[in-house]
Amino acid sequence: MQPPGRRFGNPKTPAREGKLVTVGRVEDVPEGRGATVELHGGKELALYHIDGRFHAVENFCPHKGAPLADGRLTGHTVECDWHGWRFDVRSGACLNRPSEPVETYEVVIEDGWIKIRV
Ligand code: FES
Repeated sequence: MQPPGRRFGNPKTPAREGKLVTVGRVEDVPEGRGATVELHGGKELALYHIDGRFHAVENFCPHKGAPLADGRLTGHTVECDWHGWRFDVRSGACLNRPSEPVETYEVVIEDGWIKIRV
């Protein structure tokens, strides 16, 4: 389900099934960087490593659909490459347009493996 206020949907948002999916190793995502996580069936998420913690959001800017994994990360804020909308990757809140949040996903680290609940 897309957040309220969204004008169009993200076709790459995974269905919420409540299961943990292993997506890689902690060392695969350098500190202070974002990465695209490709899931089964062409779905994908954006994953960020900040201050030793991991955060996942949908990889889709609600403005025009840019991949947020490619945005510029400053602290916990990612700025969309295309037109500069900014999002808090912890909450999904859009700092420019409060009515345009992105979905967030729980990230669990187990024995150095990154797992995301989808
Ligand atoms: S597509 Fe992200 S700000 Fe326009």
